[in-house]
Amino acid sequence: MQNFRYARPQVAVHWVAALVIVFLLLSGMFVLEDMPNTVEKIGNLRIHMIFGALAGLLVITRIAMRRRLPAPPSLPGDKLAHAGHMSLNLAILLMAASGMLLALQSGALDAVIGNGVLPENFKDFTPRKVHGLVAKIAMGLIVLHVAAALYHQLIVKDGLISRMRLGGR
Ligand code: HEM
Ligand code: HEM
Repeated sequence: MQNFRYARPQVAVHWVAALVIVFLLLSGMFVLEDMPNTVEKIGNLRIHMIFGALAGLLVITRIAMRRRLPAPPSLPGDKLAHAGHMSLNLAILLMAASGMLLALQSGALDAVIGNGVLPENFKDFTPRKVHGLVAKIAMGLIVLHVAAALYHQLIVKDGLISRMRLGGR
């Protein structure tokens, strides 16, 4: 049974990354975007940047583990799943990269570190446009990913979600 699951570290990193990413997408879209760029925003941006960089690192860790550790056998439709997983990874890497570029280019990183001011707003910076657009694509991909997982679990009944389950046998 154990052989049919992802290895423990892969499972743990999948779920920690999933939580961090969902937090970043929701708080970015529903909190950060609506806040004017006053000093009160700096604390929120600091948290966002730390967790954003962490999400990027977790995804890189997952990609590295996926290449080294054995994965469960493929299922029918695996090509589509593979394309979906690659797109998810790519979207998150693009989010982390565009976020870091934005922080550097706009001076937000200096403001967060303590010796700068925020720009009046972020909307005219190109990395901000990429960040906003890819965020919407990432949300769409996550909705499809969760729908696919539920479809397998509840309709095909192939126990797919158990492949990403932590805990004993
Ligand atoms: C996987 C990682 C990340 C995710 C999922 C994410 C998500 C988001 C989302 C959803 C928004 C709001 C976009 C919108 O609604 O148009 C946002 C804004 C922003 N993010 Fe990220 N982000 C990530 C990483 C980062 C990193 C690493 C940095 C900087 C080091 C960063 C800096 C910013 C900034 C400066 C804004 C602009 C806020 C504003 O317009 O008021 N992000 N992010
Ligand atoms: C929140 C609910 C989520 C559920 C229920 C879920 C469920 C699953 C399941 C069951 C698998 C195994 C699929 C298989 O064996 O073919 C999987 C794999 C995967 N998930 Fe998720 N997931 C969720 C969130 C996320 C998020 C937010 C991301 C990142 C953006 C993500 C990225 C991935 C990737 C890249 C794989 C492929 C695993 C690999 O080959 O390393 N998942 N997920």
